Amino acid sequence: MQILALNSSPRDNQTSKTELILQKFLAGTRQAGATTETIYLRDHRIEHCLGCFSCWTNTPGRCIQDDDMTNELIDRFLAADLVVLATPLYFGNINARLKVFLERTLPIYDPAKFDFSQGSDEPKAILPLRFERHPRIVALSVCGFPDPESFKLLCPTMQMIYGSYLVAEIYRDSSEFMDVPQFQPQMEQVLAATVRAGVEVVQQGRVGENTMANLTQPLAPAAELIAIMQQTWPQ
Ligand SMILES: Cc1cc2nc3c(=O)[nH]c(=O)nc-3n(C[C@H](O)[C@H](O)[C@H](O)COP(=O)(O)O)c2cc1C
Repeated sequence: MQILALNSSPRDNQTSKTELILQKFLAGTRQAGATTETIYLRDHRIEHCLGCFSCWTNTPGRCIQDDDMTNELIDRFLAADLVVLATPLYFGNINARLKVFLERTLPIYDPAKFDFSQGSDEPKAILPLRFERHPRIVALSVCGFPDPESFKLLCPTMQMIYGSYLVAEIYRDSSEFMDVPQFQPQMEQVLAATVRAGVEVVQQGRVGENTMANLTQPLAPAAELIAIMQQTWPQ
């Protein structure tokens, strides 16, 4: 299985908590035999979608813009068996950098293939697909606050776009406590469960309940974490 990970954090790899969780997950997939590659969207020139619909009309399946998305990234996305979309939670949803990337995947959809029939078992995404291939998707995100409800908008966003192509969702809160020394015992369990999640996605196509419970476990009671936050930021 060829796995492509897209990390949309602007932070360097030593600081980014998206990167921390992502790389543990990918390590698990490699343990189960997958090959992995990570693309950092911050390193690429990806223009905004122009909304011209040329990719649906004059140049079907291809964007008219000359940038890394057209020349490289969209082909790498389509060639993967599984794509991990890894994003920090910004204002309750995927960050703008990932959103720009996703909107630029418009060429892979084909409006002429709309199928209004019900009950098909075929995997479905937000729009009918132009090409035979589409990767399975894993959504992965971290957020700063100690509240798993923080992902309540991101989760339906990913489900709406990818439908049954979305095979796993890894959402981890309390990201800014991940390197606090007193929470390292809990973090060891969280990171071990994240590796396990990678193994399970390759071997079973999904993350098991027990693994997810360990991965999302609270690092401490929320009130304790909020008190630490309040002491940390300048008053
Ligand atoms: C612009 C911005 C918006 C954010 N919005 C949220 C949010 O809505 N909820 C939350 O819990 N954390 C929020 N955070 C915190 C980040 O999710 C957190 O710092 C996370 O670790 C960032 O991922 P990274 O370390 O991979 O860059 C926000 C951070 C920034 C910079």
